[in-house]
Amino acid sequence: METEKLPIEDKRPFVKETNGMFHPPEELSRRGYIKGFAEYRRMYQESIERPEEFWGRQAEEHISWYRKWDKVLEWDFSRIGEIDAPFVQWFIGGKLNVSHNCLDRHLTTWRRNKAAIIWQGEDESQKRTLTYQQLHSEVNKFANVLRKHGIRKGDRVTIFMPMIPELPIAMLACTRIGAIHSVVFSAFSTQALTSRVQDSQSKAIITTDASFHGGRAVELKKKVDEALGDCPSVETVIVYKRAGVPIDMQPGRDFWWHEEMAAEDVKGFCEPEVMDAEDPLFILYTSGTTGKPKGIVHTTGGYLLHVTLSFKAIFDYKDEDIFWCSADIGWVTGHSYIVYGPLANGATSMMFESIPTFPEPDRFWKIIEDYKVNIFYTAPTALRALMRLGDDWPNKHDLTSLRVLGTVGEPINPEAWLWYHRTIGKERCVIVDTWWQTETGGVLITPLASAIPTKPGSASAPFFGVVPEVVRADGTPTEEDEAGSLVLTRPWPGMFRHMNNDVKNQLVKQVYFSTFPGKYYTGDACKVDEDGFLWLMGRNDDVINVSGHRLSTAEIEHALVGHHAVAEAAVVGFPHEVKGQGIYCYVTLRQ
Ligand code: PRX
Repeated sequence: METEKLPIEDKRPFVKETNGMFHPPEELSRRGYIKGFAEYRRMYQESIERPEEFWGRQAEEHISWYRKWDKVLEWDFSRIGEIDAPFVQWFIGGKLNVSHNCLDRHLTTWRRNKAAIIWQGEDESQKRTLTYQQLHSEVNKFANVLRKHGIRKGDRVTIFMPMIPELPIAMLACTRIGAIHSVVFSAFSTQALTSRVQDSQSKAIITTDASFHGGRAVELKKKVDEALGDCPSVETVIVYKRAGVPIDMQPGRDFWWHEEMAAEDVKGFCEPEVMDAEDPLFILYTSGTTGKPKGIVHTTGGYLLHVTLSFKAIFDYKDEDIFWCSADIGWVTGHSYIVYGPLANGATSMMFESIPTFPEPDRFWKIIEDYKVNIFYTAPTALRALMRLGDDWPNKHDLTSLRVLGTVGEPINPEAWLWYHRTIGKERCVIVDTWWQTETGGVLITPLASAIPTKPGSASAPFFGVVPEVVRADGTPTEEDEAGSLVLTRPWPGMFRHMNNDVKNQLVKQVYFSTFPGKYYTGDACKVDEDGFLWLMGRNDDVINVSGHRLSTAEIEHALVGHHAVAEAAVVGFPHEVKGQGIYCYVTLRQ
């Protein structure tokens, strides 16, 4: 006999709406990490008026240091490109290790047995949970493997892996021994991989035989093999067997992950390398207005503090929560809000291997129901695509575990925002529309779930320490509701420190600090409304944002003219209903 499904009792308080503004429920503010707007204002004010005091206190509270810093901050935006000195330094003289902060320090608390990573494979039957203790043990072993292969502090390691737990294990192992990782998105081409390995001069590549993508196996090791002919810096390749497809293994160069991890001599503790706050942590390549992808370099202390505090304050993470960021770790969102921010907080971070529509369009909603996800962070493109498929898919699932919903990567149109609010959040979840960039390391403009009201389509207000300005082409401030360029006048801890192979910060100066001298130019258009809310309006430079992915028009043009039949090419973006922007390519062929 078929039993009738009882309606689910939804006990979550409603989000209150007044004149198009949505307020966090009082209970959420009362129980929140940041207890309402007044507390945000007070903290923000302090972060601007006395930044060294504010950030020094946050650094003591949120990060474990081997040695305390001598000075919180030094910066100079006006002399970039003139001298070979960093334009910003945080926590000067401070010593720490990122993997110690993400793992070891939780082992002496009850969190030792808490789930650090919950992984859902593409195949619904494939699931894994790693507690902090288990993750620690895997990371220590892999760090020992890397050391055994001669990887040392300052060496670069390219990680070309799909969304499996071994990806964060490899990243954390690098941070443990002070190696600088460069994660390359696993769907990238051989060419994209080659140029990134060459630019970073990586000594090793960590990869898999293949990845799963919407029911297909995509051969990754093959791409690595093709790239290696042009990448003489690479001495070692470590391959995790994910799909079991046949691959070539070159003796002396290529090693199986499972064999390396099973060796007797890699078992046990790996002493973390004591790193300077300003030592490089990772390189991540991103597209810009210049033709070649830029290797954005983030450092250790400031970055870790920024992602740790922002994760906690923006999403109002509670120890019992399950947090799910659906991004790929190949992008900065995954670095900061699947790996480092959540793990430094001792949070439970979900990882999903596949895509929202596989095997059916309710995969996201099914995962939320199955795992009782409390905080969900995704991209507007995904929401727009899923919204078009109708409400029946989400309505089939119990989504009452959700409390906070986030978006990132591109502007969210009010229609998609309201659908997220009504159909997914059932008008009871707070939405945080978070604005940031690869270069910023962590979120800079955003609501705080427990403290800042929202308006559909606006990223609300600056995060602690962030001073945004919207200016006209001549540098003068815009009026209310007048669109201009978004610039940032002060440094924040998660700010990138330089670009790989950029002598004297010449490129940094050209790209970020020459349009409005002395100020960081974001490349984004923005306006400020009567309530002081910030509205991000997309790029106003030669970068197009397709489904939240940054592409440079120059880079696409370069690829087109690289074809023997193409004489000239011009590329522009156009508004696209689902992807935000689409691409038009105009091509003149040779005779
Ligand atoms: O144009 C902005 C857009 O994404 C750009 C940064 O892209 P990327 O470095 O790939 O990092 C994406 C993930 C952090 C920005 O210059 N962008 C990002 N978030 C938002 C956004 N535009 C509007 N609203 C957002 N919330």
